[in-house]
Amino acid sequence: MKVAIIGQGYVGLTISAFAGEFFEVIGFDNNPKIVGQLKSGISHIEGVESSVLQKLIKAGQYKATTLGSDISDVDLVVIAVPTPLNKDREPDLTYVDAACKTIGENISKPVLVINESTSFPGTLRNYIKPAIEKYSKSPVEHLYAISPERVDPGRGDYNQKNTPRLFAGLTSEASEKTREFYSRFCDELVEVSSPEVAEAAKLFENTFRQVNIALVNEFAQITNALGISVYETLDAANTKPYGFMKFTPSAGVGGHCIPVDPTYLAAVAEEHGAPATFIRRANDVNLEMSKYVVDRVQADNGGSLQGKSVLVVGVAYKPNVADVRETAAELVIEHLRNRGAVVSWHDDVVGSWHGESSAPLSGADIAIVVTKHDSVNEKAIVASAPYVFDTTGRVQGTHGL
Ligand SMILES: NC(=O)c1ccc[n+]([C@@H]2O[C@H](COP(=O)([O-])OP(=O)(O)OC[C@H]3O[C@@H](n4cnc5c(N)ncnc54)[C@H](O)[C@@H]3O)[C@@H](O)[C@H]2O)c1
Repeated sequence: MKVAIIGQGYVGLTISAFAGEFFEVIGFDNNPKIVGQLKSGISHIEGVESSVLQKLIKAGQYKATTLGSDISDVDLVVIAVPTPLNKDREPDLTYVDAACKTIGENISKPVLVINESTSFPGTLRNYIKPAIEKYSKSPVEHLYAISPERVDPGRGDYNQKNTPRLFAGLTSEASEKTREFYSRFCDELVEVSSPEVAEAAKLFENTFRQVNIALVNEFAQITNALGISVYETLDAANTKPYGFMKFTPSAGVGGHCIPVDPTYLAAVAEEHGAPATFIRRANDVNLEMSKYVVDRVQADNGGSLQGKSVLVVGVAYKPNVADVRETAAELVIEHLRNRGAVVSWHDDVVGSWHGESSAPLSGADIAIVVTKHDSVNEKAIVASAPYVFDTTGRVQGTHGL
């Protein structure tokens, strides 16, 4: 079987590497730079080893391309393109639409189309299927299914193989073929009764994380006002063996999922006249954490940050990855600069960002730890400035949440 995977980013390349063991995979991406790298067997994604790609390329099991015509003879297509928010922070399906166009214009025989991009319930049925049919040159009856991606890039314990996978087809034939595909490289498949259930479950998983992170972020502000340690209090609560799950405070949430997916759920809720106040508020609490952190730092430093050199330590959205999408560091830096601070950042995992390079971990008036990579030495952070504020709870001997 020949499989096309549209989008060769975190999700698409990860799937390509697993599927490439069993099927001939065409990795289609419209970014020539990424495709150029992939063609030479260089992976740009944590968790996908270049050696694995090189082996697959050599065996003729993987080929990256920017050419739509290269996917014309496949049997199955997986969509794994971004589903971000637009400038008004509303769901943006333009990438999905472009992927549908590539499929519609290039595939004229019936295939199975599986969507792995995260979106609101109804996307497969009411958006993807009609879009592909609209772009198809002649009428063609594809099969359609959804299998929301749950990969957590950079994670060692859970991967494509051992993370249970939800799926549902628009028809029973689509479900059956989807099961056949994933069962080759995934241990546990969970079929649900409709694509809408799978789509909603994925959004709820990330909304659950978002509201719990917001709750603990609010709780950190409460414990600080009460003069007690948030970490000690959370550890105390966590001794309860049931009914509690520990989340830890931070400068905010980042990445392509937690800050984005709940807004997809809120948007579809409001479109159907259902309330999403809790979800919207959680999003705001997480966004406001950056201001709270900078307020605390300012208050501790004589009430003004004007002219002070501030080093933001860790700008990736989470430890041990180079991903800066929606990172909380962005807002922290913005607040600092708006208050006249002279800001630089240190993150050798990210390296360069917004045309700036990672600065040395030393010599600042103030350091704020937003993300603590394992490779960054704790003592070096403490020594980098006379005042260090840690938002991660991972650096001893500092000020913090
Ligand atoms: N990153 C995660 O941890 C994660 C986890 C679960 C689900 N998801 C979801 O998976 C989807 C993809 O996310 P990602 O993190 O892989 O994104 P990404 O930005 O890492 O990769 C997307 C890739 O798609 C390419 N692309 C964009 N438009 C295209 C088009 N029209 N045709 C071909 N290629 C195109 C981009 O060049 C990029 O390489 C999103 O819906 C996301 O919400 C992501």
